[in-house]
Amino acid sequence: MPSVYSLSNVVKERLVGGVGFRLHVPSIEIKAEENIALVGHSGCGKSTLLDMLALILHPDKSDGFSIEPVGGKSHDLGKLWQRRRQSRLSQIRKQHIGYVLQSGGLLPYLTVRENIELPRRLLKLADDDSINSIARVLGIHRQLDKLPGLLSAGERQRAAFARALSHRPTILLADEPTASLDPITARKIMAVVMELIKGLKITLITASHDWAHVYKMDLRTLHQEAKPVENGRIYQSTFRD
Ligand SMILES: Nc1ncnc2c1ncn2[C@@H]1O[C@H](COP(=O)(O)OP(=O)(O)OP(=O)(O)O)[C@@H](O)[C@H]1O
Ligand SMILES: [Mg+2]
Repeated sequence: MPSVYSLSNVVKERLVGGVGFRLHVPSIEIKAEENIALVGHSGCGKSTLLDMLALILHPDKSDGFSIEPVGGKSHDLGKLWQRRRQSRLSQIRKQHIGYVLQSGGLLPYLTVRENIELPRRLLKLADDDSINSIARVLGIHRQLDKLPGLLSAGERQRAAFARALSHRPTILLADEPTASLDPITARKIMAVVMELIKGLKITLITASHDWAHVYKMDLRTLHQEAKPVENGRIYQSTFRD
C-alpha cells in the first residue's frame, strides 16, 4: 500500500531570537486510513510539523517529502517547494487536506453554514445536502445560521471539524482541536469525529497534549524527543515513527 505521507530526513529550523529551534524528522511513513497522534510538550514542534504536512510551511532541508492522497496522484513536495510551485501546492492542499486549528479558525463575519461551505466553494463543488448532513452528524445543524461568535466553544470546534471535512478530503489534520474544552466535551467530540472519519476512510493526524486520551483512542503515536545541541545554541526536537 503506498504511503499518504513519506518523509525522510526533513529539517525545519526556527533560528530567530534566543535559543534556536530545530525540528528533525528522520523517517516517517503514514499509510491511508491510519490515525496518528503527535504527542509532546509545548514548544516541541507539533504545530510546525502539522503546518508542513498541511503544505503551509516548507522544510529547510529534506531528502524526501512526498504525498499521495487516496484517490490522488503522488507529488514530490520537496521538488514543488524547490521550484516555488505555490499554486500547485495550494491546489493539493485545497483538494485533499482539511485542517482544524486549535482556535477553530472560523471566519467571524460568515455564518457557520458559510464557513463550512467555504472549502467547497473554493473547489467549485456543487451545492448538495452534504453541509446539512455533516452538521447533523456533528450535532450543530441548529447552529448553521448563526455567526461563530454566538456558539459555545464546543460547538465552534465541531463547526471547525465540519468545515475541514465538507469538501471530502482524505487527509484530516487537527492541531489540538479540543484543547480549549473541558475533558468530557473534548472526548465526546473526538469520539464523534473518529466515528465519522472511519466511515469516510480518512487519514487523521492530530496533535495533542492529552496522552491518556490519545492512548484510549488507539492512535498510532509519533514519539518525540528533544535535547540541546551545538553547545546549547539549538534546541533540537526529533519525531520518530
Ligand atoms: N514563526 C516562528 N518564528 C520563530 N520561531 C517559531 C515560530 N513559530 C514557532 N517557533 C518556535 O518553534 C518551536 C516549536 O513551536 P511549535 O508551535 O511547533 O510547538 P508546539 O509543539 O506546537 O507547541 P504548543 O503545544 O505550545 O502548541 C517553539 O520553540 C517556537 O517558539
Ligand atoms: Mg502548537
